Amino acid sequence: MTTDEKAKALEDLNAEWVKKNLPLKAGATQAVPGDGNPDAEVLFVGEGPGQAEDEQGKPFVGAAGKFLTELIEAIDYTRESVFIANMVKHRPPGNRDPLPDELAAYAPWLDEQVTIIEPKLIVTLGRYSMAHFLGESLTISKIHGEPKRNAKGQVVIPMYHPAAALYRGDLRPVLHADFAKIPKVLKLIEEGKDTTAEAEEEETEEPQQALL
Ligand code: URA
Repeated sequence: MTTDEKAKALEDLNAEWVKKNLPLKAGATQAVPGDGNPDAEVLFVGEGPGQAEDEQGKPFVGAAGKFLTELIEAIDYTRESVFIANMVKHRPPGNRDPLPDELAAYAPWLDEQVTIIEPKLIVTLGRYSMAHFLGESLTISKIHGEPKRNAKGQVVIPMYHPAAALYRGDLRPVLHADFAKIPKVLKLIEEGKDTTAEAEEEETEEPQQALL
């Protein structure tokens, strides 16, 4: 698909999904489907909209979003060059964590976005998107910054959620160091040098392989 065709496909997808009776819809101002380049090489996936996102209809525009923008710009990318989405597309009440049935209800919307965008690299922000793309039993403190290939063949780098660095300042340099790997991993993917050993993580529903 061309970029214009992808943009149209994403628009149609969102138009279809905003009509659905989704579990967090009643408590939200509006849906926050995600935004950015429909043809992005890198897709970032967070957890769900907070108050600022709920008000503006855009992902990562509050305090965590400010730090995400800083991280993206620190590697000489722009927000417009990547795509930014979330696991759930309506704000959970009081910013509580999304529940398993809520995550399950919104997951196909995200999966269809991924199918349209066809990113080369998916960066998960926080544990919910890590669980979606890499399986339930992984620990972010052990595997952040390590590129993995999942059973669907997607290349995924799990990272801490930028909001975590707002109350744990020691995570700021960790996130910067993990983001610095993004251009290097993309280059390896483009050169086809992207497979290797088995991951050493515990068993998961979807086995992954370490990438580098
Ligand atoms: N946190 C998220 O996970 N997503 C947003 O869009 C904003 C904050």
